[in-house]
Amino acid sequence: MQVMLLGMPGAGKGTQAERITREFGIPHISTGDMFRKAIANQTPLGMEVKQYLDSGRLVPDDLTIRIVRERLAEADAANGFLLDGFPRTLAQAEALDQMLRDIGKPLDVVLYIHVPQEVLLSRLTGRRVCRACGATYHVVFQPPQREGVCDHCGGELYQRSDDTEEAVRTRLEQYAQTAPLVEYYRERGLLRQVDGEQPIETVWSEVRRILLSIGG
Ligand code: AP5
Repeated sequence: MQVMLLGMPGAGKGTQAERITREFGIPHISTGDMFRKAIANQTPLGMEVKQYLDSGRLVPDDLTIRIVRERLAEADAANGFLLDGFPRTLAQAEALDQMLRDIGKPLDVVLYIHVPQEVLLSRLTGRRVCRACGATYHVVFQPPQREGVCDHCGGELYQRSDDTEEAVRTRLEQYAQTAPLVEYYRERGLLRQVDGEQPIETVWSEVRRILLSIGG
C-alpha cells in the first residue's frame, strides 16, 4: 500500500503516521525527519539544510527530490510506504509521479488532514518530541504521563527549533507552495479529506477506516 499524508504544518501528519506504521507495517518516509536526523548527525546534507529548517523555509526541490528518490530505492519500500511531508511543491509532485512510474508503485490514496489555520500555532508551539524514539506529544492535547519524559521509551522530550512562533509563521506562509497539491491529487481521484480538528483518536479511526477500505 502506497499512502501519502498531506496537510498544513501541525495538522497531525506525524501523529497519524506513528499509528499507520504501527498498524499497517509500512515504512514512514518523512522528509522532515530525514533532514532533522542529518542535522543531528552533522552530515554534509544536514549542514546544507539546517538554515532552511531553523527558519521554516522549504529546502530546495532538487535536494529534496534526490533524497526521496534514494529512500524509495531502499529494500523496505518495496512492499509499500507512507510519504509524510513530501511532496510540498508542484515540481516535487511531478518528480514523484515519475519516480513511482519508474518503480511501478502508484499511490493508493492521499490522506488530506484538514485543520483551520487558527489552531495550528498553538499546536506547534506546544509540541514536544522524544529525542530517542521520535514520539510526538503536546503539552495540553497529548501530554506525557511524566513531564519531559517519553511514555514509550523514557527518552527526553524537547521542543523542535522550528516550533518557535516566528518559524511557525514562516512555515504557515510557505504552505502557499503546497496548497495547490490538494487540487492536484483531487483531480487524479486520489484525495480523501479527513477533519483533523477532531480529537487524535477520532482522526485515527477515520484514517484507519479509509486505509482498511482500500485494502490495507
Ligand atoms: P516537517 O517535519 O514535514 O514539518 P511540517 O510539515 O511542518 O509538519 P509538522 O511535523 O510540523 O506537523 P505534523 O502535521 O506532523 O503535526 P504533528 O502530528 O506533529 O518539515 C519540517 C521542515 O523540513 C520544513 O519546514 C522544511 O524546512 C523542511 N522540509 C520537509 N519536507 C520538505 C519538502 N518536501 N520540501 C522542502 N522542504 C521540506 O502534530 C502537531 C502537534 O499537534 C503535536 O504536538 C500533536 O500532539 C498535536 N496534535 C496532533 N493531532 C492533534 C489533534 N487531532 N488534536 C489536538 N492536537 C493534535
